[in-house]
Amino acid sequence: MEYNGFCFCVFLFSLSALQYVHGDLSYSIQEEMKLGSVVGNIAKDLGLTLDILSARKARIETEENQRSYCDVNLRSGELVVSERIDREEQCGENPSCVLKFELLLESPLELHRVSLQIQDINDNAPSFPTDIIKLEIRESAVKAARYRVDAAHDEDIGPNGVQSYTLQRNNNFVLNIQTTSDGSKYAELILDKELDREEHHEIKLLLTALDGGSPQRSGTVAIHVTVLDANDNAPVFSQAVYEASLHENAPLKTLVITVSATDADEGVNGEVSYGLIRLSDKTRKLFSLDPQTGEICVAGDIDFEEGSKYELFVQAKDGFGISSDAKVIIRITDVNDNAPVITLKSLTNPVPENVSPGTEVGLINVQDRDSEKNRKVRCSLQQHVPFKLIPSIKNYYSLVTTEKLDRELVSEYNITISATDEGSPPLSSVKVVHISIADVNDNPPVFEEQSYSSYVSENNKPGHSLCSVKAHDPDWRQNGTVIYSLLPGEVNGAPVSSYLSVNGDTGVIQSVRLFDYEHFKNFKVYVMARDNGSPPLSSNVTVSVFITDVNDNTPQILYPAPEGNSFMTELVPKAAQGGSLVSKVIAVDGDSGQNAWLSYHIIKSTDPGLFKIDLHSGEIRTQRDISDSDNMKQNILVAVKDNGQPSLSATCSMFLLISDNLAEVPELKDMAYEDSSSKLTSYLIIALVSVSTFFLTFIIIIVGLRFCRRRKPRLLFDGAVAIPSSYLPPNYADVDATGTLRSAYNYDAYLTTGSRTSDFKFVTSYNDNTLPADQTLRKNPTDFEEVFGDLDVSPEVGRL
Ligand SMILES: *[C@@H]1O[C@H](CO)[C@@H](O)[C@H](O)[C@H]1NC(C)=O
Ligand SMILES: *[C@@H]1O[C@H](CO)[C@@H](O)[C@H](O)[C@H]1NC(C)=O
Ligand SMILES: *[C@@H]1O[C@H](CO)[C@@H](O)[C@H](O)[C@H]1NC(C)=O
Repeated sequence: MEYNGFCFCVFLFSLSALQYVHGDLSYSIQEEMKLGSVVGNIAKDLGLTLDILSARKARIETEENQRSYCDVNLRSGELVVSERIDREEQCGENPSCVLKFELLLESPLELHRVSLQIQDINDNAPSFPTDIIKLEIRESAVKAARYRVDAAHDEDIGPNGVQSYTLQRNNNFVLNIQTTSDGSKYAELILDKELDREEHHEIKLLLTALDGGSPQRSGTVAIHVTVLDANDNAPVFSQAVYEASLHENAPLKTLVITVSATDADEGVNGEVSYGLIRLSDKTRKLFSLDPQTGEICVAGDIDFEEGSKYELFVQAKDGFGISSDAKVIIRITDVNDNAPVITLKSLTNPVPENVSPGTEVGLINVQDRDSEKNRKVRCSLQQHVPFKLIPSIKNYYSLVTTEKLDRELVSEYNITISATDEGSPPLSSVKVVHISIADVNDNPPVFEEQSYSSYVSENNKPGHSLCSVKAHDPDWRQNGTVIYSLLPGEVNGAPVSSYLSVNGDTGVIQSVRLFDYEHFKNFKVYVMARDNGSPPLSSNVTVSVFITDVNDNTPQILYPAPEGNSFMTELVPKAAQGGSLVSKVIAVDGDSGQNAWLSYHIIKSTDPGLFKIDLHSGEIRTQRDISDSDNMKQNILVAVKDNGQPSLSATCSMFLLISDNLAEVPELKDMAYEDSSSKLTSYLIIALVSVSTFFLTFIIIIVGLRFCRRRKPRLLFDGAVAIPSSYLPPNYADVDATGTLRSAYNYDAYLTTGSRTSDFKFVTSYNDNTLPADQTLRKNPTDFEEVFGDLDVSPEVGRL
């Protein structure tokens, strides 16, 4: 193959169609190039770098059902031949053979029309329609008579077509070459020397057709001339060229046109028969010619889109085989028989939900194979989708978004594109484009509730589930996967993680340690919900934990001091009347609310009718006047109960001495152990006490007289007990409302969170400030020392 004639020319011009550049590229190559042969450098001609060319997915697009023959080599930016191109197959005898296709670039869409001029090469030799041409010539034929010979045909065109004929040297004929109106050449035999049937009754000649290509190709035919006695005239067509038009899709046997030729000869010699010559395979399938009548009829499917014009050559032959030919041109007219075809040329799928309105997501091409009006197509989209079609270059449309997308609302769209042509009746087609929306992490987790609170009883087990938090994130997969965690912080100076833990997956909050209501009543933590996107989004919520009280503190009796620790006796004047306040039990409870409601009960007393205790205040009063018959030593066992479920209680013994002086003091020990000792022991004690009565009476009288002179006897208490406020434990302040009931109970104020021993300091100070020293005896050696001054009674007491 020769590449000398290889030339290419590039016409580049751009015209702005909307926002797109539209330019034409034109190249020219020879037919039959090897696959991979370079047609032109597209990158260079468009002024694009190779990177851009591949980023923009440069590619060749052709009309439907067409082959492209060329490809873009993205590595070199060249347009290369990808299929065999045979000019004769593509364009037949058409002198101009141009292949058209489009070069498509995306984002932004750019369409360049590429026309590829196919140059002819001399790849076909001239050929005659038959191997032998038979001529019958009368011997009466005169010199210079002309006999037309069927032209040789060369599929190549122009100079590569048939250019000349040569005739084998002979005695009778010379060759004359004629050119027809369409430029083709044919040969005529001219009689140079009259024939003599007696000399040669048959002459054989060899005719060679030559083309003008280089190298030159040729084709030959044998001409057999039979010498006859008479006859001359050749048939003559009524028209040199017949023209007819035919609708596509015309039914079989539709008459297209009738050709006719007449022959001047008479009889059998004048009978004309018709035949089609130089027929391509395609044409042969579409048309038939009646040999007798000259009627050309439809013999196959006539499709305008396959061919809009056909040329047939008809030969008329008379009885002697003398022939002439005529050309029939049949034009096919278009019928709107093709619906538009919608092709999706490119599509971004899925589309991220955060694309801005107006983003091109797809490219659609609409084609209609019909022509003119039948080819004009309108394209539309169904309503109520956030997409629209923007007409672009030629029959391309861009599919763009019109508003913001939200995958959490609509995650996919089925977009129906319909295309209708303008034929009558119009034809239309639809195409459904499925677009899914890809997730972007645009939603933070949202808690179901604005805040959470949990109530937990104190003394809970570590690991106890307090509550669970739940947050939802509508995003997809990991973008919507919620992980819970505690935000770092401190509660009472310790990290929150030492109080609570949260399950990252379930949001269940568990306690890590035991809570003590008496230590703290509530606290607040922040729980964060974070999704797994990148970057992650999060939100937080407060979780308030309220610790509820459990009745875990027994009432604590402040006065009188619990049994065993110290021993106190109240003096009740003999003159005390019914209802007199004798003493008071003071108790506190570390719990709160109901658990700290205290009630006082006498559960055992020496004389059940003599004393009563106020249920709520703990005040012990006489029920009746004291009479002389009453036992001097009265012992009352008081129980203090709280109101918890179950309730807890404490008991104390109250020793009362009905006496106006302290003379009876030696008998205290009887009272102290009356309950706990056996009868025998009691008698023993009584005996012992009796022995030393005299001695003790003496001392007590002396002491009693000393005190009586100073102060008159009076009641122990004269109202509510005044407690020095400085005694209140520092953590007394009630921080929340859970203990509202408590304020109604005076005694509740004496929280005993401090050390228990300190509570007895209070008693001491209480004694000092309010109780007259002569009215209270404490069976405590040191106290006795205080009270009795220099009188040494302690050994005595110690023995008891
Ligand atoms: C879109 O069409 C597909 C297949 O026809 C169907 O499965 C899907 O449910 C449709 N989606 C919508 C949003 O209509
Ligand atoms: C999550 O969101 C990011 C953008 O925020 C996106 O790139 C990623 O594909 C999303 N993941 C899924 C599973 O959709
Ligand atoms: C919790 O979230 C709120 C907004 O919802 C934010 O203002 C605050 O800073 C966050 N707190 C913490 C501790 O992250």
